[in-house]
Amino acid sequence: MAVTYAFDVYGTLIDTNDIQEALVSLVGDNAPLLMDAWRSKQLEYSFRRGLMNRHIDFSVCTRQALIYCCQYYNIILTEAEENRIMEAYQSLPIFPEVAEVLRDLKEKDIPFYAFSNGSSSAVKHLLEQAGILDLFTGIVSTEAVQNFKPSPLVYEYFLKVTNTPLPDACLVSGNSFDILGAKSAGLKTVWIKRNAHQFFDPWGTAPDRVIQALGELQGFLASEMVTK
Ligand code: LAC
Repeated sequence: MAVTYAFDVYGTLIDTNDIQEALVSLVGDNAPLLMDAWRSKQLEYSFRRGLMNRHIDFSVCTRQALIYCCQYYNIILTEAEENRIMEAYQSLPIFPEVAEVLRDLKEKDIPFYAFSNGSSSAVKHLLEQAGILDLFTGIVSTEAVQNFKPSPLVYEYFLKVTNTPLPDACLVSGNSFDILGAKSAGLKTVWIKRNAHQFFDPWGTAPDRVIQALGELQGFLASEMVTK
């Protein structure tokens, strides 16, 4: 049976570190520090909202996390700067190898979806401007279940809406919390460890596969993922 791939978006297809450039004008050399703190806070806000059953558009988590981090680091952020940085975040680029890998999967008739905490419209915009929207079988946003990864509800929703039997579903993500969430829900998983400073949460569970770039996916046979 064929594998249906769920590709995480932020940090997997989309290079969230590209935002560093926009942050340099605010904080110079401290841009990497602010970027990392912002990303962590953004995810924390989504986790907390999920636990509280207070879902909100993911972009609100992103904006509020930016405001919090600027306050924390004593950075004066004007409304215009806040809007400029948020706009940059909404137009982040894809990683260089993404388009070619997805074209290859499509040629092989392997179904694949963008599966994200981001709203359908935000994800659509990102994929459209990268020129890869048409390659996808579809977009699945967690907004439909008013929750966020790693709630089991969102992985179950993915299976349901894509009509994928559990043994055939494989999540590809650069985010270890996402991999653990998907594994806990029973999906197969491929973790993209793009650099040596990325570590997998030591929870005693490993991804089914670890790759360094999406291109390595091309080496897998669809059947391999299933029988592994
Ligand atoms: C996403 C974030 C969690 O796209 O990376 O779902």
